[in-house]
Amino acid sequence: MMHKIGFIGCGNMGRAIIKGIVTSGVCEPGDIIASAHTQATIDAAHEQFGIDVTLDNTQAASAEIVVLAVKPYMFDEVVPQIAPALPEDVILVSIAPAKTLAWLSETAGVAKVVRLMPNTPAAVGEGMTSVVPNDACTQEDVDRVLAIVNSFGKSEFIPEKLIDAGSAVAGCAPAFFYMFIEAMADAAVLEGMPRAQAYRFAAQAAVGSGKMVLESGQHPGALKDAVCSPGGTTIEGVRTLEEMGMRGAVIDALMATVDKAQSL
Ligand SMILES: NC(=O)c1ccc[n+]([C@@H]2O[C@H](COP(=O)([O-])OP(=O)(O)OC[C@H]3O[C@@H](n4cnc5c(N)ncnc54)[C@H](OP(=O)(O)O)[C@@H]3O)[C@@H](O)[C@H]2O)c1
Repeated sequence: MMHKIGFIGCGNMGRAIIKGIVTSGVCEPGDIIASAHTQATIDAAHEQFGIDVTLDNTQAASAEIVVLAVKPYMFDEVVPQIAPALPEDVILVSIAPAKTLAWLSETAGVAKVVRLMPNTPAAVGEGMTSVVPNDACTQEDVDRVLAIVNSFGKSEFIPEKLIDAGSAVAGCAPAFFYMFIEAMADAAVLEGMPRAQAYRFAAQAAVGSGKMVLESGQHPGALKDAVCSPGGTTIEGVRTLEEMGMRGAVIDALMATVDKAQSL
């Protein structure tokens, strides 16, 4: 029986997606096969998720949907290697920056290609994924990919030229939020709060703030204003963040990720 999804590589992002898929139940573990470079990685994936595993990329490539989840620099080696094993009607999915739909289709010798830019919160069903199908994909193909992607979070279609922006503001963003949570917890610890409790407070404040933006329909600036009582404590923090160049630092950091993606 042909597997429904094959993963070439199952590192941080591959595992986050597999965890999201298996937890949501959109696919049975037995519908999924994953390959990796080392035995230890595939053993761990089999143990954790109950999926089929192999060290042979061509075996993982014999699936209805094949997800390329190796580092971008590996694509020049791995895509030609799996090309002869890909089923003719395969939907080839890439989660990497830099490799375009045109490059993927030509190098793999397949018609249907989808670029996704997911993020690791997929592992807890709160992913945010950019979706870019090529013209050869039918509505049914796109729906099949969306069923998988939406099983581990939210998704939106974007034009291919915006994939690096999507990567900055969703793919890379968790790292920046973790830094913000860690820094805020450091301040609470400085005030005497136990560290584990400080992480819970900062993380839940982040979750709640994100939900407010998504669900209230209000501008983030208006939501910020509502927290800042005149002459109060929060506005002192706002002044300090602005003095330290918070907005400029954030914009520069995201643009640095875009520059790097475009240089790969
Ligand atoms: N991490 C993120 O948050 C994130 C977000 C969006 C997109 N992405 C993209 O996702 C892709 C994977 O990133 P990652 O963070 O998951 O990297 P990673 O943790 O380094 O995982 C890479 C995986 O590729 C496997 N691998 C290496 N050489 C291989 C080969 N020749 N054949 C088959 N598998 C091989 C590795 O196996 P071993 O474990 O056995 O070495 C590992 O399982 C990248 O293109 C990245 O840009 C990542």
